[in-house]
Amino acid sequence: MDILKIEHLSKVYGKGETAVKALDDVSFSVRKGEFAAIIGPSGSGKSTLLHMLGGVDRPTSGNVFVDNTNLYELNETQLAIFRRRQIGLIYQFYNLIPVLTVEENITLPLLLDEHKVDGKQFAEIVKMLDLENRLSHLPNQLSGGQQQRVSIGRALISNPAIMLADEPTGNLDSKNSSEIIDLLKMFNKTYNQTLLVITHDERIALQADRVISIEDGRIAKDEVIRP
Ligand SMILES: Nc1ncnc2c1ncn2[C@@H]1O[C@H](COP(=O)(O)OP(=O)(O)OP(=O)(O)O)[C@@H](O)[C@H]1O
Ligand SMILES: [Mg+2]
Repeated sequence: MDILKIEHLSKVYGKGETAVKALDDVSFSVRKGEFAAIIGPSGSGKSTLLHMLGGVDRPTSGNVFVDNTNLYELNETQLAIFRRRQIGLIYQFYNLIPVLTVEENITLPLLLDEHKVDGKQFAEIVKMLDLENRLSHLPNQLSGGQQQRVSIGRALISNPAIMLADEPTGNLDSKNSSEIIDLLKMFNKTYNQTLLVITHDERIALQADRVISIEDGRIAKDEVIRP
């Protein structure tokens, strides 16, 4: 089953002489449970693509279907709710809320939705992320690896249909990088969580089931490594 379907996606930033075509007629699908790496040179359009898949920013043309919902037919409010429930986003610099504790950062998407926190699920997630002894800490009291684990917890708490990560290990040393990738892979394999990771790190790309190369806003190569 295709959890994600992208049809003729294009994105132009700006207008007139300064217009930049960041994505140029990109189409592909991702199966549920697949782990795909997205690679390509700086400026090729990787982050733009992830933003369009995650409902963060609207494309100039084309469609994105997540679990059969056409994202860009939703209005802003519907899109914000859909994003919170169905899309887990992980960034290089964590994007945690500095004044909220670890526990509050992780449960924030549920609270914004006025959903109750499932205590058992929360306990399971923080245990797997090894954050049990850090729940009352603020983000600036944590190491980089710990902060990224909090952002993974926040992305997982609403059981999203897909997890999108933009260079999740770009700010970490090699030991912490491996830990973060192992965690993402664990959630991918154990919970059949669909995972798309942008990376400049070849060792990470080679762990994926599939590697999609982006060049000049287009798919230059799309290789299945593990069918
Ligand atoms: N908000 C924006 N306004 C104008 N141009 C933008 C904007 N965001 C990105 N671009 C341009 O779109 C192109 C693609 O950018 P994008 O951030 O998607 O690249 P990337 O592949 O993620 O690069 P990197 O590996 O450096 O993160 C670049 O030429 C960039 O300058
Ligand atoms: Mg980028």
